[in-house]
Amino acid sequence: MHTANPGVLKLENCALALILGTVALAAGGQTAAVKPAPSITTQSAERDWWKNAVIYEIYPRSFQDSNGDGIGDLNGITGRLDYLKELGVDAIWLTPVYPSPQVDFGYDISDYRSIDPQYGTLADFDRLVAEAGKRHIRVLMDMVMNHTSDQHEWFLQSRSSKDNPYRDWYVWRGGKGQTAADKGQPPNNWQSLFGHSAWQWDEKTRQYYYHKFYIQQPDLNWYNPKVQQAFEDIVSFWLKRGVGGFRFDAITTLFEDPSLADEGVVKDKDGNAIVNAYGDPQLDGSKTDNLPGLHPVLQEIRATTDKFNTNAFPGTRVLIGETYLPNVEELAKMYGPPGKPEFHLPMDTQVAFIDKLDVATFRSKLIDAETHLSAHVPLLLFDNHDNPRLDMRYGNGVHDKDIQRVLATILFASRGAALFYYGDEIGMKTTPPERKQDVKDPIGVTGWPKEKGRDGERTPMQWDAGANAGFTNGSPWLPVPPRAAAINVAAQKSDPVSLFAWYQSLIRLKKTVPAFESGANIMLDTENNKVFSWMRQAPGAPQVVVSVNFTAEPQTVNLASGGAGIRPYHVKTLLKSPGAADPESLGAIELGPFGVYIGEVQ
Ligand code: GLC
Repeated sequence: MHTANPGVLKLENCALALILGTVALAAGGQTAAVKPAPSITTQSAERDWWKNAVIYEIYPRSFQDSNGDGIGDLNGITGRLDYLKELGVDAIWLTPVYPSPQVDFGYDISDYRSIDPQYGTLADFDRLVAEAGKRHIRVLMDMVMNHTSDQHEWFLQSRSSKDNPYRDWYVWRGGKGQTAADKGQPPNNWQSLFGHSAWQWDEKTRQYYYHKFYIQQPDLNWYNPKVQQAFEDIVSFWLKRGVGGFRFDAITTLFEDPSLADEGVVKDKDGNAIVNAYGDPQLDGSKTDNLPGLHPVLQEIRATTDKFNTNAFPGTRVLIGETYLPNVEELAKMYGPPGKPEFHLPMDTQVAFIDKLDVATFRSKLIDAETHLSAHVPLLLFDNHDNPRLDMRYGNGVHDKDIQRVLATILFASRGAALFYYGDEIGMKTTPPERKQDVKDPIGVTGWPKEKGRDGERTPMQWDAGANAGFTNGSPWLPVPPRAAAINVAAQKSDPVSLFAWYQSLIRLKKTVPAFESGANIMLDTENNKVFSWMRQAPGAPQVVVSVNFTAEPQTVNLASGGAGIRPYHVKTLLKSPGAADPESLGAIELGPFGVYIGEVQ
């Protein structure tokens, strides 16, 4: 259902605001009784936890090493749970910790039912889940269904002979123009997202196999129902161990068009093919991305997952999607059609990667999230392990800390669930390798120097100003950035105006201010292209206004003006940038450079 732009509203138009609030509150929710019944309040809190969730992404390799091998591990994470509790997170998502040859640092999985010895053991994992549970923190696993490692038993079988029962678990084809003597050409022009042809010749059985990512990551054949059954079983295995849900990796690339037709080449406005960082022509993805076969698969996985919901902690088990999509209409489909739910929380990458502090774009993308997702819960984020950190995408080198305050405010003070990446809460910066020989992420070698890989956003967590920033006693797998001496958790925890304190305050507001729990986002002052303002509105709760200055100059906004002059609303400050004054009314809110104001309307 698409409504006529109700995300924009003047403050005095409260009737409509109330209606919107009701729609938002009525969205979603299911439950299946398993554990003894707790109180009603607890039941609904556990069932609905994800609708206003704060989720923290951990790159386990870089979070905390506990055994001195220079690589982060599960026991390291367990040792930092009190920190995460203090920050206020509801769930942690771990990028893959399964056994893996680590070509793609865990996204090449060779066994879906165990833990890589680099990260610990299944017993360590169980202890992490139990200790996190004591702190009311859920553990979410990464689930990679598009491909396995080429060392996975399924693929070893599959490549062993053309009549092996696992042959059809992967995507095999003969070459174009292939003869008894010659392999010919790859079956079509499809490319790996990590550079060059997506087809790899395998001499033993004289066919090509398809890989959307690295050569060592052969794609599974999702037209084979046995593949789906295998993943239903894997998902159940981890749900039984108590995980709170999954983040589904590269989910839009599960299916390929069986016609195997070539993809179109993307051209610039002069009609020339666009060349990507690997020197290949940019393809349109029309035969390998976001094919409709995906939706029934997701509906099955969701049905399996829903059987594990409990009324007590961990409550609803949640499915998150890595959903890079071209527009909000495609994003809306990822929640599933009525009665056939798919993801609880597909990532809103429309908002995440605007990559420019432009008020009009932010406003329009957030209106989209509010009005084009049929009242489902948006999952907002700005950062992850695959993209340069916030400083490189949004910073200006002068006001980076204030700009990160702005982004964090949009993240936590908008309706929906919020996901952020380890280190964002202290303003960790991107530190790309300076020399090709230092690159660890293989795409940085293939694409050097245009694509330096993802090492820069995966550097060790900066805990303190000591050796290796408190990450390891050994030699860290990626260098600790020298600026860790200044930017670290220990320094910020004792600083009341630190970014860490700002994150903590925002998360506390998100959890305790009634309008923030589920209230609709209603845009205010919509002609303003310097300050982004909105209101959170829920039935029966005081309205809360939020203003963020997207410029390096001071600004004053009037949120009381409905075109008929200033209205004398009083406002009580809930949070404001350090050093800012309290406004006397909604008519004149003063904001410093990249300043933020959050206040309750009285
Ligand atoms: C996802 C992951 C990325 C990985 C790729 C292949 O995009 O986030 O890190 O390399 O999938 O699994």
